[in-house]
Amino acid sequence: MEIHLKSLISRGKIRKRIEELGQKITEDFNSRDLLIVAPLKGSFVFCSDLVRSISLPLRIDFMELSSYSDGSVSSGKVKIIKDLTHDIRRKHVLLVEDILDTGLTVATALNILSSRNPESISLVVFLDKKKTEIVPEYTGFEIDDEFVVGYGMDYRGYYRNLEYVGVLDQKNKDSTDSMLDRRKV
Ligand code: IMP
Ligand code: MG
Repeated sequence: MEIHLKSLISRGKIRKRIEELGQKITEDFNSRDLLIVAPLKGSFVFCSDLVRSISLPLRIDFMELSSYSDGSVSSGKVKIIKDLTHDIRRKHVLLVEDILDTGLTVATALNILSSRNPESISLVVFLDKKKTEIVPEYTGFEIDDEFVVGYGMDYRGYYRNLEYVGVLDQKNKDSTDSMLDRRKV
């Protein structure tokens, strides 16, 4: 399958913004015991670049959440598929998310984490569609309400490895769908 996507945010722009975010986070968390929490899978690319732009001792942990879904319609419930391995009590937690869409995933992750009594919780999101009342402490880019892929974000599991963020139009969706149908996966 050839990939022709409209680029929305280039690799160069991403790199520059992540340097800025890393510098700000480095200043704000100076001498705190910082634990980065990245929900899988969408945030793994952003997280791996972001942590390398933070010049502080830090630890990283992963969790995986999944919304119970009925086909393509979210049911509004989220469950924990993989939990953290760290005890987050008295830690300064920075939740690293790929994208704020309806905000349900982030709101659930924040609820789960805050029930475990960390010292503080902050949120960094790579992209914000500005549809929720959640205001992250750090935001990479604000975008329009379009379906985007790349830089960790997927459509039906594909496109996570693109080094830029692209808009997935109906033609791209159809060709991914028919490829998956042919493979019966
Ligand atoms: P929520 O609606 O804010 O809970 O977003 C849930 C999850 O849906 C995000 O963490 C992403 O994994 C995924 N998602 C939301 N919008 C997009 C998009 O435009 N492209 C790819 N994934 C998305
Ligand atoms: Mg996600």
